[in-house]
Amino acid sequence: MPHLSRLRLGFNVDHVATLRNARGGAFPDPVRAALLAVEAGADGITAHLREDRRHMRDEDMARLKREISKPLNFEMAATDDMVAIALDTRPHACCLVPERRIERTTEGGLDVAGGHDHLKIVTAELLKARVRVSLFIEPSLEAVRASRSIGAPVIEFHTGAWCDALAHGEAGRAGHEFARIAEAAALARGQGLECHAGHGLDFATARIVAALPEIAELNIGHFLIGEAVFIGLSAAIAKMRAAMDEGRRLTADQA
Ligand code: PXP
Repeated sequence: MPHLSRLRLGFNVDHVATLRNARGGAFPDPVRAALLAVEAGADGITAHLREDRRHMRDEDMARLKREISKPLNFEMAATDDMVAIALDTRPHACCLVPERRIERTTEGGLDVAGGHDHLKIVTAELLKARVRVSLFIEPSLEAVRASRSIGAPVIEFHTGAWCDALAHGEAGRAGHEFARIAEAAALARGQGLECHAGHGLDFATARIVAALPEIAELNIGHFLIGEAVFIGLSAAIAKMRAAMDEGRRLTADQA
């Protein structure tokens, strides 16, 4: 079997802040959760500073950068305001995502074709400041090609449609969606892009997607935070780590 690199786990801490904000106080503290996640085996922390600040706040991002020992992946919309905050924060990476105020979560990938020229400018600005840039995209060949042309070294595939199909027991649609992820990942690696994946992943789906050798990192939040209610955050991270490692040992065909 070919040697596969270890799959990194990025823990998305947003919904610890959602819970905190529900009462308007100081706890649970997302930075404390991030520190615990790193201790339990997360390879990095992802946090999304939304325009409406519905979960993470500006001071959370600054504290994360100061206090965590692992890379901070700063998720954000490609707006001038966010670019200014990111340049001030100097995270390890920025993940550019689409953002609509009315959505419950990030419901789809970036419009990399329509937004090509603007995304190219934002990407260049961040790269110039030595911030690694990833684009959160649909798993499609067109989106991969557009991302390459934009100049981002990393892409993250939105796995939401695949997870949703599995959750609804729609085997045909799930198979189709997984094939799209696999094909897009193969093209992206062929073009020299680093591939990440995330959205809606749980232990079972993380294990399956881990079998794709092109994927270098998974970013997972909501499920892990929910699971932490039942088994604790450290145990949830450790269990996710084990699922990912197990999936990594499988070939994509077996998954
Ligand atoms: N990656 C990106 C770019 C996201 O926007 C999100 C959701 O905020 C995630 C990963 C994590 O998704 P989930 O919370 O469903 O695990």
